[in-house]
Amino acid sequence: MSILRSFIVFEGLDGAGTTTQIKNLARYYEFNRRPYYITNEPTSNPIGLLIRDVLQKKVVTTPEALALLYASDRHDHLYNPSYGIERITEEGRVVMSDRYFYSSIAYQSVQCNPDFVRTINSAFPSPEFIIFVDTPVEECMNRIEKRGGVKELFDRAEYLTSVRNNYLREFENLPEGVNLLVVDGSKPIDTVEMEIRKYLSSFSL
Ligand code: TYD
Repeated sequence: MSILRSFIVFEGLDGAGTTTQIKNLARYYEFNRRPYYITNEPTSNPIGLLIRDVLQKKVVTTPEALALLYASDRHDHLYNPSYGIERITEEGRVVMSDRYFYSSIAYQSVQCNPDFVRTINSAFPSPEFIIFVDTPVEECMNRIEKRGGVKELFDRAEYLTSVRNNYLREFENLPEGVNLLVVDGSKPIDTVEMEIRKYLSSFSL
């Protein structure tokens, strides 16, 4: 099992606030003139766009095929010869991703066999840091509702409760060298932001 150094992954339920926190951390790195790269999964590359179509029900497929698409998008995200993030970390930039394979373990395992999901994601390197923005399901539902727009497949309370349980189970057994911070996402944005900064700076990041 390999670890991708300087790779920070943000995880959480839909509406948890990962996108806001990642942007704020990027602003902090900007201020400190630390080279960084911000990214997300599903990506905006061709496979990621196909995933968005499935989530918006423009394309219908099976849960297993969707799980494979996420894994395929992830492989491309890591290793694509022109935009792969593995190379970007090697160039000395801090790479921050809004979601990574923990999202697959948490979300796809609700509808697919968890062993299948684990197997198709087993070859990916672990990140050096996981920031889990743990926002209560009720609060996430409120935020999703306020946001409006097309309701994606997973925006449902029972679903999110199972997803959260899957995340927590996965985080109980992380390999050595993978550092996890769980922050309470119901706290004010800047409190969460400060906790994340404090945690990462204790590792000189
Ligand atoms: P995301 O882009 O984070 O949500 P939003 O468009 O609201 O900002 O992710 C889209 C959905 O994809 C989200 O419900 C989580 C889900 N997802 C998985 O089910 N498995 C995965 O591996 C990933 C990366 C995302």
